[in-house]
This record gives sequence, C-alpha cells and structure tokens, in this order.
Amino acid sequence: MQQRELGKSGLQVSGIGFGCMGLSYGYGPAAERQSAIRLIQMAVEQGVNFFDTAEAYGPNEELVGEALAPFRDRVVIATKFGFRHGDAHAGLDSRPERIRKVAEQSLERLKTDRIDLFYQHRPDPNVPIEEVAGAVQDLIRQGKVKHFGLSEAGPETIRRAHAVQPVTALQSEYSMWWREPEAEILPLLEELGIGFVPFSPLGKGFLTGAISESTQFDASDFRNTVPRFTPEARAANTALVDLLADIARRKQATPAQVALAWLLAQRPWIVPIPGTTKPHRLEENIGAAAVRLAPEELSEVNAAIARVPVQGDRYSADRQKLVGR
Ligand SMILES: NC(=O)c1ccc[n+]([C@@H]2O[C@H](COP(=O)([O-])OP(=O)(O)OC[C@H]3O[C@@H](n4cnc5c(N)ncnc54)[C@H](OP(=O)(O)O)[C@@H]3O)[C@@H](O)[C@H]2O)c1
Repeated sequence: MQQRELGKSGLQVSGIGFGCMGLSYGYGPAAERQSAIRLIQMAVEQGVNFFDTAEAYGPNEELVGEALAPFRDRVVIATKFGFRHGDAHAGLDSRPERIRKVAEQSLERLKTDRIDLFYQHRPDPNVPIEEVAGAVQDLIRQGKVKHFGLSEAGPETIRRAHAVQPVTALQSEYSMWWREPEAEILPLLEELGIGFVPFSPLGKGFLTGAISESTQFDASDFRNTVPRFTPEARAANTALVDLLADIARRKQATPAQVALAWLLAQRPWIVPIPGTTKPHRLEENIGAAAVRLAPEELSEVNAAIARVPVQGDRYSADRQKLVGR
C-alpha cells in the first residue's frame, strides 16, 4: 500500500485508512466483538496502518485498542475529544481540564501509552481554540499525544489553532457528493502544510451503489435522520451512483473504489478513512489504492458530477450547527 504524509507533519500513514466507528456506533447494532477485532487485524495484514476512532463512538476505543495491541508499533491510532461526557448528543466540551481527562481515559481504553493523533471532534464556541491547542500542546510535551488534529473546523479556527500548535490533520466530510472543502479548506491546508482526512468518503455507503430508495435502515441507524437519505433524496441521487458505476466499469473497478480513488487523486496529502463491517468490502476498499485516475479522467468525472445536482442536506439542522465554525 502506498504511504502518504499528512501535510508537512512528517506523519506517514497508509494511503487508505480504516474508520472504525461503524463497528460500534452510528450504523445500527454494533458488529459482533470478535469479528470486529478480526476485521481490524485483517486491515493491518492488508497494509492499512491508520485507524480512526473517538471517545464518542461507544465502546469503539476499547475494541480498537484490543485489536491493535499486537501491532502497536506499526500503526497510527487517531482518536477524538470534545463532546460532553463523550456523548455526541450531550453538547460540546473542549475545556482544557476535560481534554486532559479524555486523554487519560482514551489511553486506558486504547491500552496504549500514546495517542498518535488527537482531534478536537467539533469546535467548541465556549472555549477559545488557543486554549484547546495549548492543552493538546501540553499533552504533546508530556509524550501522551504525538499530533494535533481538528474535525469540521472552519478556516479561522484552523489558522488560530495552527498558530499555537501545528495541526497535523483536519478530518472533515469530503466525497464526490460533498465537495464544499474544495472552496476554502483545501487551499488553506495546502498553504499551512496540514493533511486532510476525508470522513464518510463513500457517502455513508450511498456512493457504493449498495443503498437504494427502498433500503430500510435499522431504527438506530443515524442515516434515518439525514435529509440526504430520505427515500425521495435517495431516488434522486441515484443518478450520481449510475455515473460512478459507468466510470467503474471502464476502469475495471467498483464504484466504491472509484469514489476513493477520486479522493486520492485530489491531493497527495489526502487520506480517506472508509468504514465497513465486512471483510470482502474491506479488501475492495483497500484495492482503491491501486486505482489511478489520470488528470483527463478526473476532469471528465468532475464535469459529469457537476451535471448531477445532489438532493438533501448532509446533516439535520441541529447537527449542521456544529460544523464549519
Ligand atoms: N469526524 C467526524 O465527525 C466523523 C463523522 C463520521 C465518520 N467519521 C469517521 O470516518 C469513518 C468513515 O465514515 P463513515 O463510516 O461515516 O462512512 P463511509 O466510509 O463513507 O461509509 C460507511 C458505510 O458504507 C458501507 N460500505 C463500506 N464499504 C463498502 C463497499 N465497498 N460497498 C458497499 N458498502 C460499503 C458500510 O456498510 P457495511 O458495514 O455494511 O459494509 C457503511 O455503512 C468512520 O468510521 C469514522 O471513523 C468521522
């Protein structure tokens, strides 16, 4: 697997990482524990060395820590702080004392002595970002954290944070059907030498073609609350998946692989973190690292995407308030 450097931080990771959230949280019932551990280990065996989790993903850090313990020195573990009581629905809390506490608890749950990349999950309007960056800087000085990251932060926050403690990576949503970061964020990251980690790179599964208008999600599945996933929006957005399937046929690849290859082709410091609960899909997603889109193919794909307007917001109104500040 190709390695990529996250910006100019010196942190090298596999070109495709593994988002572990869905094994425990967000997309219906958690995966069976032993199969989830085995799946994470299969990712390592297939060349993935970059794993993403968070305090707010239920028992996910424990799972990731147990699975990766035998490989600890070969992998990069990223986790996140920033929600009150570690609950994504309980409000924000990035007070320095809370950050210190989460770091201690995450180290314990991950069964490790350092967090390779510690992201603020969402900017907290009640805590100046300089204080957040300062708190993470102290943890870096103590050796408990190696790198600082932000998630869904706006340009001003990124600049202010980076001035206190260099930011290694921004993790925000980016994919063929959510291209907002291209306007301001990617040029800013280029300027500052910060890496970019697109989450939901497969459009929460939609871009793979595996979800249709009639797909029923489990009652606990987060996608039931996403306007872009109403049956009407899904029916309208199928045009984008059809387009992807067409390109995939020509590239002898799958739609999921083209969606990931498209992200990799945008900048050399972009590292997507697709998530899956299934071994065959893990292998398929890793295979995207070998799919190359030439510049003329990229232009053709971009022109085609631009002709397909996407229906529905990516977040419900209450979740939307938390991003881009
Ligand atoms: N910073 C943040 O605020 C934030 C927010 C969301 C996510 N994240 C991180 O980003 C990671 C990835 O995001 P995500 O899980 O939302 O989205 P994603 O990777 O775009 O999509 C995951 C979904 O796609 C399905 N899928 C994966 N590979 C597939 C394939 N090859 N063919 C068909 N279906 C496939 C999975 O279902 P199966 O399990 O059934 O395969 C799952 O439902 C998360 O795990 C998490 O670590 C961060």
